[in-house]
Amino acid sequence: MSPDERREFARDLGSRLPAGFTLGVATSAFQIEGATHEGGRGESVWDAFTSQPGRVVDGSTADRAADHYHRVPEDVELMHDLGIDSYRFSFAWPRLQPEGKGSLKQAGVDFYERLLDRLDAAGVASMATLFHWDTPNELRGGWFNRDTAQRFGDFALQMGERFGDRVGSWVTVNEPATVTLEGYALGVHAPGASRLFNALPAAHHQLLGHGLAVQALRAADVTGPIGIVNVHSPVVPASGSEADAAFASLFDVLHNRIFADPVLLGRYPVAPEGFEPLFSALADVDPADLLVISEKLDFYGLNYYAPSKIAAGSGAPATPDGASAAMASLPFHLEAWPEFPVTGFGWPIAPEFLGTALDDLATRYGDVLPPVVITENGASFADAVTLDPDDGTPRVHDGARIDYLAAHLDAAVRAVSGGGAASVIDLRGYYVWSLLDNFEWAAGYTQRFGLVHVDFDDFTRTPKDSYHWLRRVAESR
Ligand code: NOJ
Repeated sequence: MSPDERREFARDLGSRLPAGFTLGVATSAFQIEGATHEGGRGESVWDAFTSQPGRVVDGSTADRAADHYHRVPEDVELMHDLGIDSYRFSFAWPRLQPEGKGSLKQAGVDFYERLLDRLDAAGVASMATLFHWDTPNELRGGWFNRDTAQRFGDFALQMGERFGDRVGSWVTVNEPATVTLEGYALGVHAPGASRLFNALPAAHHQLLGHGLAVQALRAADVTGPIGIVNVHSPVVPASGSEADAAFASLFDVLHNRIFADPVLLGRYPVAPEGFEPLFSALADVDPADLLVISEKLDFYGLNYYAPSKIAAGSGAPATPDGASAAMASLPFHLEAWPEFPVTGFGWPIAPEFLGTALDDLATRYGDVLPPVVITENGASFADAVTLDPDDGTPRVHDGARIDYLAAHLDAAVRAVSGGGAASVIDLRGYYVWSLLDNFEWAAGYTQRFGLVHVDFDDFTRTPKDSYHWLRRVAESR
């Protein structure tokens, strides 16, 4: 699109958003806060992981990240000027409970009180995630250990009691699929375990932790709605062959269904034919756990980035976060999509598959699906600051991000109002990942997802063209 077309499209999109639809931006604690040694914060599995050579592509840590810990007023001001309704952030578990147990640390409580005060003053609502991957390192075995679920339930209870009247809406866990697959199966995320299919207990324990947290937040009588955030990637076989189809359904189970079915249907998915032995850990779980995991939710958070094309046989195209190395040991692999342009991460830009993800939710979960919120969507590109030739103002021309966001928000609105399966979905909002450029896990600082550019040397914030574009969407409502 040309700059004029983008402006016009922003106005049109804004005018088509349903009344009451929430427009937001998202971040997570570990990716933006920095100050990892301040306020008595404990070590998380990600601090330990990033200190190991070779784990993060640029050798970086999140010790300073985007320095948000020291820049809350400035960052909230950016959100206020952007005109969005809601800010999704995460509470850093190791800042609040340095050892993953015991009473809440006052310095941590104070930090989030200050953030919530600022948001209130700016008229920006909050959506707070209790677990966005920064497991306290003291919890030995992490999510592989069932006790971590219990610890997380206790944390949720204290957080609900402390912040229950302040937080706009609650998310228990963020993308347990990614933590399980990248962190416990493939070893490319913290804690760096490469257990392949033996990682499944980590999935079950995160889901159990989710259910216990829902119960805890209800017991604490929090005022806001409660949900989970799952990442969904529609899966397509690379060819019409039987082998590709079988591995595609295996990947769909591993990536999507294991995390959505028990939450919404109270049962794990049936293992695809021929792969049953791989799923024995889930076949044997205590039915009482499934009752906890399927506690009724007020909303379902959907993160969508890209679809997955699956083919039989090992060998994967290289990705900047190194996932390919560990994936090479699997009997299937992800294939590229030559028909789609790609983001900085090499992920296909395929907004139509956001429609597919919504359709799949509608057809798979029907009546039991609560209202849906798109809790993350966005793209990384190699953004650079340039000076405006007329007045020297710093600018970041990220037209590709504008086109990505425009196409995806448009696809979402069309899917739920267009007469297809998704038209039965009650879609309540859309959050852009991310407000700020930040620490992108194993990709370090090499992938910029922000609406606002961050200089990682002096932490200067520069709103990108996409920021100004989203403001136009917001004000056109
Ligand atoms: C999903 C995760 O929740 C977030 O932490 C991450 O930065 C984005 N995906 C982009 O990879």
